[in-house]
Amino acid sequence: MSTPSRIKLGVNIDHVATVRQARGTVYPSPLEAAGRCARAGGDIITAHLREDRRHIQDADVYALKEQAVLPLNLEMANTREIVLLALDLLPEEACIVPEKREELTTEGGLDVVSHSGELGRTVRLLTEAGIEVSLFVEPDIKQIDAAAELGAPCIELHTGSYCLAEGESAEHELSRLINGACHAQSLGLRVNAGHGIHAENIEGVLQVPFLDTLNIGHSIVARSIMVGIENAVSEILEKIRTYARGGDCEQ
Ligand code: PXP
Repeated sequence: MSTPSRIKLGVNIDHVATVRQARGTVYPSPLEAAGRCARAGGDIITAHLREDRRHIQDADVYALKEQAVLPLNLEMANTREIVLLALDLLPEEACIVPEKREELTTEGGLDVVSHSGELGRTVRLLTEAGIEVSLFVEPDIKQIDAAAELGAPCIELHTGSYCLAEGESAEHELSRLINGACHAQSLGLRVNAGHGIHAENIEGVLQVPFLDTLNIGHSIVARSIMVGIENAVSEILEKIRTYARGGDCEQ
């Protein structure tokens, strides 16, 4: 079977900051949320410092890194300002994502094929600084090949299309994710996945083999309104333990 011992959970705490920024208060604190996620068994804290600073702020990522509650995975656009900040912050991991100001959330994966020059420079800079880099990509063989050619050790597969799909289209999206993961693994890439995952669709996502880490944000923060963030994290971890079996690769 192709699944490692336990798939890790990266909890994306952006929307704890969204609630704070909505009123310009100092609460709720992403740092306190991170501590609670750690106590509930989360493995990694993921935070997206967007160029427009709509939720997570610079002080949040520095506090998360300094307090070292859990390893920090910084989601980041490939812009000069954010790359310089990452080189100063030195998170344990950095996931490069495409970013548009008008989007509600990250839409689609990186076009690594068309932007290999700029991305290659950033992958080199971050890697030389000791940061483990991943590239957020669609489950598309050309994009995965391009990520491997740049020397990134890891990709994060965009699960958004699968998570929104129904019926036959969901089956199609799931087989793209499975093929993408198998292909990435055959190239020696570590495989993470994320976007749009919640309590109902996670069983399907967990059919994808070779998953190292799932990054989940919105659904955990939304559920935490009802049951608290420790319970929301525990519920997702229980699903991971129950359903992680990782389907086989097609021959
Ligand atoms: N992974 C990446 C690369 C993302 O950009 C996001 C959204 O910030 C997530 C995972 C988490 O997505 P969601 O909030 O839908 O769980």
